[in-house]
This record gives sequence, C-alpha cells and structure tokens, in this order.
Amino acid sequence: MYEYYANWYQAIFIRRSRRQYNGQPLPENIIYHLPIFCENLNNIIKGSRVVFVNTDTENVFRGIIGSYGKIKGSPAYAAFIGDMADPNVQEKTGYLGESFILEATYQSLSTCWVGGFFNYQVVKEHIKLHNKEQVLAVTPIGYTSNNYSVMERVTSGMVSGHKRKSLDKLCLNYTPQKWPKWVNNSLSTARLAPSAMNRQPWRFAVEDDSITVSVDKFFPSIIVSPRLDCGIAMLHLEIGAYQKGITGKWEYLKHPEVARFWRNQI
Ligand SMILES: Cc1cc2nc3c(=O)[nH]c(=O)nc-3n(C[C@H](O)[C@H](O)[C@H](O)COP(=O)(O)O)c2cc1C
Repeated sequence: MYEYYANWYQAIFIRRSRRQYNGQPLPENIIYHLPIFCENLNNIIKGSRVVFVNTDTENVFRGIIGSYGKIKGSPAYAAFIGDMADPNVQEKTGYLGESFILEATYQSLSTCWVGGFFNYQVVKEHIKLHNKEQVLAVTPIGYTSNNYSVMERVTSGMVSGHKRKSLDKLCLNYTPQKWPKWVNNSLSTARLAPSAMNRQPWRFAVEDDSITVSVDKFFPSIIVSPRLDCGIAMLHLEIGAYQKGITGKWEYLKHPEVARFWRNQI
C-alpha cells in the first residue's frame, strides 16, 4: 500500500468528520474507482473488509440522532466489516477503514466514521454478511460545503484546530529529544487519528527499533472497541514513519497492548 502513503499523509491533515452533506451524487470516476480500491484493500488485509454501497443513505442514518446530531444528505456509504473469529478483528478493521477514509479524503470526498449510531438492519439488507462477520462501523461518503455546522465544530474541536491530547500525555516514556526523526513524525501523525467520541484511547511506548501501541486502561469497550481506534492510529503511525523513509511490520499483541511496529533494518 506504500504507493498511497504520500497522498494519505496529505489527507491526514485535511480530514475532518463531516455530517451534513449536500446531496450531490458521486461522479462516474469515483463510482468506478472506489469498488476497485476496496477490492485491492480487501486482498491485502485479511479478517476485515470494506464494502462501498452506492445508494442513498437516508435509511441508514434515519432516526439516529444520538449525542452527535444526525448525518444527512450523503449519496453513498461504505461499511467496515470484521470477521469476529479473527482475534485482531478490531484493530484490523480500524486500520482498513482508515485506509478507505484517507483515500476518499484524497479524492476530495467527505466522510465520518460512525460506530454505533447507524441502522444495522438496513445495512444488512444491502450487504450479504458471511459466517461470523459483523459491521463494526460505516461512513457516509459525499460532498459538503466549507461551512461546518455548530455540532460539527463542537464534536471535532474545530475552534482550536484538531483537538487532541498532547504527546507527553499519550507516551508512556516521553523523551522526544532522544528520538530519531521518524519516531517524532510517526507519533505526531498518529496523534491526529480520529477516534470514537474523540477519546484517543491509544498510548505509545518507544523502544530502540519499535513503537508499541496499547489501550489506556481507562477505556472500556462500550459500543465501539478502543482497539478499533488503535487500528486507526496504527495506520497513521505507519504513514508518518514512511514519510521519513522508514518502513516496518506490525506484531499483534494481547490486551491491553495492541500491536508493536518494528522498523525494518536498512
Ligand atoms: C470508530 C469511530 C466511531 C465514531 N462514531 C461516530 C458516530 O457514531 N457518530 C458521529 O457523528 N461521529 C462518530 N465518530 C467521529 C468522531 O466523533 C470524530 O472522529 C472525533 O470527534 C474527532 O473529530 P475529527 O474526525 O473531525 O478529527 C466516530 C469516530 C470513530 C473513529
């Protein structure tokens, strides 16, 4: 997937959750591109898949208000599906879903991760689920104006830019003066990841050739697993490393740890 990372790095800085869409249909090139993109993605990451559904989403989000306000006017959506038999299903689905979100952002589309507040029955009518599969989240896809609604401003912390915890609160051993550039950039990029209710449940531990992502003990698994949020941060972390010329591999770990990124030796 490295061929996408330079574009996705740009997308990370402009992506925002958007909830009020203008109803404009998707153009032909996007309707052609996204299913092919999903197919490629699904071949790379096993245990999780993304399905693009080019249909009006009114029923998907109908009647769902929650604390976030309603999602309106998107002409299409994507579903992020996990195979619950896979022990790492949550982090894989976060990682895969964010790949889709960043590609859509790069294609000038607006999105919003939606974890609990969508109509599961309607989505099940659109998508045939296999054996142990569950839809863990969806995203509306479409176009929005530059004007953010009040609710969007509040939930995304737009007043002060990306509202995120500082790295010293997120790192178990915060010593940035000792870290190589790739570690600083990885963590700064991971920090911008979206998370359910903007809770940012990830914690990072830096060792010589690796960074470990774990879930802070404070965060229980209510509606959306914090491990799914961590999967999103894992993709950001990897893209931040790549931006500084570093590639690596993920080793999955047991709770409360999630995964360790081992940098490849040059
Ligand atoms: C896994 C996940 C689930 C989310 N669920 C919802 C949701 O149900 N409704 C909603 O409006 N926003 C939802 N969000 C969006 C978050 O509120 C948003 O990402 C966060 O406030 C940070 O804002 P930003 O995405 O604009 O940076 C979800 C985000 C994630 C990552």
